[in-house]
Amino acid sequence: MDVIAAARAADYFRNLAMVFPMNTGGSATTLGPILGIETSCDETAAAVLDGKGQVLANIISSQQTVHERFGGVVPELASRAHIQNVDQVTHRALEKAGMGWRDLRAIAVTQGPGLAGALLVGLSYAKSTAYALGIPLVGVSHLEGHIASAWIDQPSFPRTCVVLIASGGHTHLFHADEKGGFQLMGRTIDDAAGEAFDKGAQMLGLGYPGGPLIDAAARKGRPSSVRFPRSRVRTEHLDFSFSGLKTALLYHLQRLSPQTILEQQTDLAAAYQEAIVDVLVRQAFAAVERAGVSALAVVGGVSANSRLRARLAERAAKEGIQLGLPALAYCTDNAAMIAAAGQRALLQGNVASFDCEAMPDCALPAWSGSGAVRRTP
Ligand code: KG4
Ligand code: ZN
Repeated sequence: MDVIAAARAADYFRNLAMVFPMNTGGSATTLGPILGIETSCDETAAAVLDGKGQVLANIISSQQTVHERFGGVVPELASRAHIQNVDQVTHRALEKAGMGWRDLRAIAVTQGPGLAGALLVGLSYAKSTAYALGIPLVGVSHLEGHIASAWIDQPSFPRTCVVLIASGGHTHLFHADEKGGFQLMGRTIDDAAGEAFDKGAQMLGLGYPGGPLIDAAARKGRPSSVRFPRSRVRTEHLDFSFSGLKTALLYHLQRLSPQTILEQQTDLAAAYQEAIVDVLVRQAFAAVERAGVSALAVVGGVSANSRLRARLAERAAKEGIQLGLPALAYCTDNAAMIAAAGQRALLQGNVASFDCEAMPDCALPAWSGSGAVRRTP
């Protein structure tokens, strides 16, 4: 099956929906084992959670070797790799969980945001399996998945909190309320934090994906070796900007010989990382103060960064703020977080119809508690 076949499958389900307009398989409020599927970017992932939200299996097939020679994700290659892997990854997840298809009570899948072709693969696979099994299909926002990751290992973490999502495509600050609603408090006006890591790593000759490579190099370097700018966006929101930092690194490197860059690579990585971390920590704690909450969750691929985790923990302890950091396995893209968000959706009675579409540009779903995401005044 190729991407065109996946698109045809989506068409098929759209037509099917005219015959079966609502997916009513199973009960929406009784939670049982749930399968999560994630194919929004460059990881093909499947996970199984039991009815209580415990992760029984979390399988991730990375496409790093497919994309690394291009220095970034190539969308068509990502779609093809998802097609090749999704079925095998799902079977591995079921096997690890010790379950068969018939044990599942629901299937959650990332509906967006992400690469259109990549999303279509997971969505078509989830639709066909949910339909064949007669169980509910849940469409999940990838962002909602990242948010849910903070509660996987800490189910009692407060629902009312500030959430910082820092990933390759997003840097968003939300004020989350008890009902599951989100108010947007700030976001990047240019590059995402993960993008800043990836572009910086490329400039430093470290490779792809940049975040983990800068993280590793920075452990051997001195954060104070160079003072890179910490941008401050002058709006009433708690917005971020990382493009100036990237330009500052570029100008700095232009003054150095390739040999010097190599010699100073670890110092430069540590100094550049420190600038990103400083801004993330500053904005996150400013949001905590502005929202008047006492809990902060930090999620998304960048939350795997060792320096960021240490700095957040230090500041949270000093200020008496409860910190929610997902385990490393749930920071970068994974399907356990999609299944966890799917369970939250099911508890609210949100089941997708079989004609739901991939939403490459969606942010958070309309079903998020109090409704649409609003900017704070
Ligand atoms: O959440 P994620 O896996 O995918 C998106 O939704 O974008 O985040 C990927 C991003 C990449 O930019 C990657 O470089 C960054 O997270 N990342 C890190 C680390 N691990 C992954 N950034 C800094 N330090 C890390 N250890
Ligand atoms: Zn992600």
